[in-house]
Amino acid sequence: MKPSFLIAFSIFLLTVSYVTSQPSIDSFIQCLQNHSDSSKPISASVYTINNSSFSQILLTRINNRRHSTPNTPKPLAIIVATNESNVQATVICAKSHGIQLRIRSGGHDYEGMSYVSDVPFVILDMFNLNSINIDVANETAWVDAGATTGQIYYRIAEKSTVHGFPAGAGLNLGAGGHFSGGGYGYMMRKYGLSVDNIIDARIVDVNGKILDRKSMGEDVFWAIRGGGGASFGVILSWKINLVKVPEKVTVFRINKTVEQGATDVVYQWQLVAPKLHEDLFIRVMPTVQNSTQQGKKTVQVDFIGHFLGLSDRLLSLLNESFPELGLQKSDCHEVSWAESTVFWADYPVGTSIEVLLNKPTHGSSFYKGKSDYVKEPISKEAMESIWDLMIKYENVWMQWNPYGGRMSEISSSATPFPHRDGNLFLIQYFTLWQEEGDMFINHYMNVSRTWYEAMAPYVSKTPREAFLNYRDLDIGANIPSNETDFTEGINYGSKLFKDNFKRLVRVKTMVDPENFFRYEQSIPTHPSY
Ligand SMILES: Cc1cc2nc3c(=O)[nH]c(=O)nc-3n(C[C@H](O)[C@H](O)[C@H](O)COP(=O)(O)OP(=O)(O)OC[C@H]3O[C@@H](n4cnc5c(N)ncnc54)[C@H](O)[C@@H]3O)c2cc1C
Ligand SMILES: *[C@@H]1O[C@H](CO)[C@@H](O)[C@H](O)[C@H]1NC(C)=O
Ligand SMILES: *[C@@H]1O[C@H](CO)[C@@H](O)[C@H](O)[C@H]1NC(C)=O
Ligand SMILES: *[C@@H]1O[C@H](CO)[C@@H](O)[C@H](O)[C@H]1NC(C)=O
Ligand SMILES: *[C@@H]1O[C@H](CO)[C@@H](O)[C@H](O)[C@H]1NC(C)=O
Ligand SMILES: *[C@@H]1O[C@H](CO)[C@@H](O)[C@H](O)[C@H]1NC(C)=O
Ligand SMILES: *[C@@H]1O[C@H](CO)[C@@H](O)[C@H](O)[C@H]1NC(C)=O
Ligand SMILES: *[C@@H]1O[C@H](CO)[C@@H](O)[C@H](O)[C@H]1NC(C)=O
Ligand SMILES: *[C@@H]1O[C@H](CO)[C@@H](O)[C@H](O)[C@H]1NC(C)=O
Ligand SMILES: *[C@@H]1O[C@H](CO)[C@@H](O)[C@H](O)[C@H]1NC(C)=O
Ligand SMILES: *[C@@H]1O[C@H](CO)[C@@H](O)[C@H](O)[C@H]1NC(C)=O
Repeated sequence: MKPSFLIAFSIFLLTVSYVTSQPSIDSFIQCLQNHSDSSKPISASVYTINNSSFSQILLTRINNRRHSTPNTPKPLAIIVATNESNVQATVICAKSHGIQLRIRSGGHDYEGMSYVSDVPFVILDMFNLNSINIDVANETAWVDAGATTGQIYYRIAEKSTVHGFPAGAGLNLGAGGHFSGGGYGYMMRKYGLSVDNIIDARIVDVNGKILDRKSMGEDVFWAIRGGGGASFGVILSWKINLVKVPEKVTVFRINKTVEQGATDVVYQWQLVAPKLHEDLFIRVMPTVQNSTQQGKKTVQVDFIGHFLGLSDRLLSLLNESFPELGLQKSDCHEVSWAESTVFWADYPVGTSIEVLLNKPTHGSSFYKGKSDYVKEPISKEAMESIWDLMIKYENVWMQWNPYGGRMSEISSSATPFPHRDGNLFLIQYFTLWQEEGDMFINHYMNVSRTWYEAMAPYVSKTPREAFLNYRDLDIGANIPSNETDFTEGINYGSKLFKDNFKRLVRVKTMVDPENFFRYEQSIPTHPSY
């Protein structure tokens, strides 16, 4: 083809998309107006490419720069809901106009599922719906989908020094996405996942109706607590049970390089960490660091701990069950629970808890995450080969998160999240880079996939299980421009949900038979599954 023809052809394509998308978005906005209270015009909440703050609103909650490149498809509009009625109008109008809906709360989805699609779409942004109402006397709270983990921790601490909530270490995770994908953190061995502590919810269903636990029914209430909310409706708010924490908890972070004997300690960790007292959670975090030998790299392993008690009891527990760690009193920091949430977000001990309220900013890095479950101890030889791979790849790190405790007591069908008893730990793989451009994206995606292949012998098999909140489209994905492909659905569905996938499909087919709420890894519909 001659270049001039190619240019003419691309202009033609641009014109076509311009002509076909314009009328539908105008009519969509008209529809929103028709479905909103005239005293509170919805136009103040709708941003198209023509509004000067469009880019800023789009980017602020894009955590992964891999999904904000010049090639990333942009939404036709962003609806920043300021009232629940805006959510209802958006669902009704997106459905009637055949426009795909992407629901975003905190924007931390690793694969950008909340703000990117390959078909014309709008973003329903929930961040402004972020009220948190704490009821200390009843030990409960209502939290809106747009509230962040940091805000929730802060508001609990304002009301009580002896309550907390088990959720993630990141502070800008949205309650909408984070909880509906399970939600785990450093209290999971004591209290389970976020979803294990949710007692009610309010959602907008596919017909634009607001439902609570009673009116949605137990099947839907089960499905949204770990099955991913965005397959079933829009989460407006959750009612959570606060959990008891002591006035002071103990945190620590110590490190050992491979040269300092890290491999032996990690080997011992995997034998004991899932059996330690449930008040104690010790994360293992291998990273690549400069070695003391000039120009060489090594693997350093950080042991990051959270203990629901004081350091003396911690030290005597460890002295009994994990002396190899060599934890000293001087490594321990006794802090309030709220201060421990700041510590887990990587701030130095002593940082004011005001940082819990920091506003999100456009992500500064490109990344790819993946996950695995480990059921049998990994040998020291295998660990050494894993460290060698990390040194070869450099821009990678891992987190190993111990299970056991409360996680082993909860039935694998109590919620859609199936990874309960029988798991030693969860691995998170992270490949992180700063260089811009497709060449680097391709390179590091390949690194991430090659590394994952190499780990296959050491992790769960048939299925190779994965954690929904560490979203990874490599484990199977539908093309949204197609009707949901059920074969792909079984592929990722069995890894994420195991036997619970069937019930999820039945619930989905019951409440959204036309599959309006869909995305690359949504729960597919099936008439007789
Ligand atoms: C820095 C960082 C730290 C993390 N730490 C942890 C951790 O400690 N523990 C853990 O479990 N996970 C962790 N995660 C993963 C995190 O839980 C998931 O990325 C989660 O999906 C984020 O929720 P969100 O609302 O911020 O994301 P979003 O990108 O807004 O949404 C994620 C998914 O949920 C859907 N969704 C969002 N809001 C709603 C809603 N209101 N109704 C229905 N569907 C909705 C979206 O459409 C999308 O499919 C971390 C991620 C990052 C980037
Ligand atoms: C909005 O309402 C007006 C007046 O009732 C009607 O003419 C129009 O068709 C409606 N538009 C949409 C997109 O619903
Ligand atoms: C965006 O721009 C349109 C007109 O171009 C305006 O009607 C609307 O109110 C603007 N939205 C916001 C949120 O400012
Ligand atoms: C943006 O503005 C242009 C020029 O005013 C207008 O033609 C177009 O319809 C607007 N686009 C949207 C999505 O509102
Ligand atoms: C939404 O609007 C309704 C009706 O006007 C009002 O009662 C309610 O308080 C509003 N909610 C929020 C979160 O503003
Ligand atoms: C606890 O909740 C119940 C039911 O929601 C409510 O009636 C009661 O007032 C609450 N108790 C306190 C002490 O707030
Ligand atoms: C490792 O721990 C030591 C203290 O034992 C500390 O000085 C050092 O900064 C840590 N190294 C890294 C890279 O975190
Ligand atoms: C590691 O060494 C390289 C040079 O070999 C240097 O550029 C880099 O800053 C070092 N990194 C750290 C964390 O010290
Ligand atoms: C650790 O245990 C040994 C005996 O097993 C005991 O002598 C020692 O005092 C204990 N140390 C601490 C800090 O509890
Ligand atoms: C991916 O990485 C592997 C291992 O480094 C390499 O052998 C392979 O050629 C790479 N593939 C691509 C497509 O870059
Ligand atoms: C859509 O999915 C179906 C079912 O897997 C498949 O046969 C078909 O080729 C797909 N179509 C496109 C355009 O990808």
